[in-house]
Amino acid sequence: MGRTGILLAVTGVLVLGASVYGAYVYTTLSADLSDSKQALQEETAQSGTLSKQLSEAKEYIARLEEALSNERNKNSVFENQIAKISGTVGVLEKLAKTDPELLAKYSKVFFLNENYSPPALSPIPEEYLYQKDRLLTLHAAVQPHLEELLDAAKEDDISLLIISAYRSFGTQTALKNSYRVTYGSGANTFSADQGYSEHQLGTTVDITTPAVGATFTGFDQTEAFKWLTENAWRYGFVLSYPKGNAYYQYEPWHWRFVGKDLARQLHRDEKYFYDLDQREIDEYLADIFD
Ligand code: DAL
Ligand code: ZN
Repeated sequence: MGRTGILLAVTGVLVLGASVYGAYVYTTLSADLSDSKQALQEETAQSGTLSKQLSEAKEYIARLEEALSNERNKNSVFENQIAKISGTVGVLEKLAKTDPELLAKYSKVFFLNENYSPPALSPIPEEYLYQKDRLLTLHAAVQPHLEELLDAAKEDDISLLIISAYRSFGTQTALKNSYRVTYGSGANTFSADQGYSEHQLGTTVDITTPAVGATFTGFDQTEAFKWLTENAWRYGFVLSYPKGNAYYQYEPWHWRFVGKDLARQLHRDEKYFYDLDQREIDEYLADIFD
């Protein structure tokens, strides 16, 4: 064999070897590829199952959250109802303890019988009395509000003195009879019949100053009256009989306690107690002493 023959033989062997090796590599790679494909398919299938499970879990959580939020809403409605009921019970309890007469319109409209008197009366301290030797009493729950008013006036250098406060049915009878003797039916313009006076409630006072005294002449021209007009509402007191009222003559000295809320409302609306309907007034009854 010549050199060329040897070269051809060697080349042939190499080509054959390469072909066999190539076939082997191809077969191995194909097998690997097919394994990989199968693994991928399995993983894809598995991941499909997982994402399905995930989305089901998400839906479940969303349903739970919705149910929870519904429960929360129900609870808050329930809590609101409980709060409302307790509020109502509180108001009813207060009303049960509060005398409904306190905000009724007397003055020729309602009648207090001879047995009506405030549940407790307390004496007005002497320093606030116009006549130091007379005992004047007031509804015990109104007393602190009156003292607050009188002290506030004093701070502003206004001297207010009480000349009349609680008057029993009997006292009003005697007073009205004495006025009748002097003024006849004219007494009806300034003095209530027994049973119709706000003074029987124990919530009402007649106020004067040292200079004006018992006649009240010119009281509405005083600094004291100006102060009362500007400030009495802050302490729950209002003027019952302004100029031109339907019941009695103008009585700038006669102030009735109606509670701070109602007094504030009347002041804000520039109205008087007797301008309101009884139904509207009664809404303030439960909180009258707050
Ligand atoms: N002076 C008022 C009207 C009363 O007697 O109650
Ligand atoms: Zn009076």
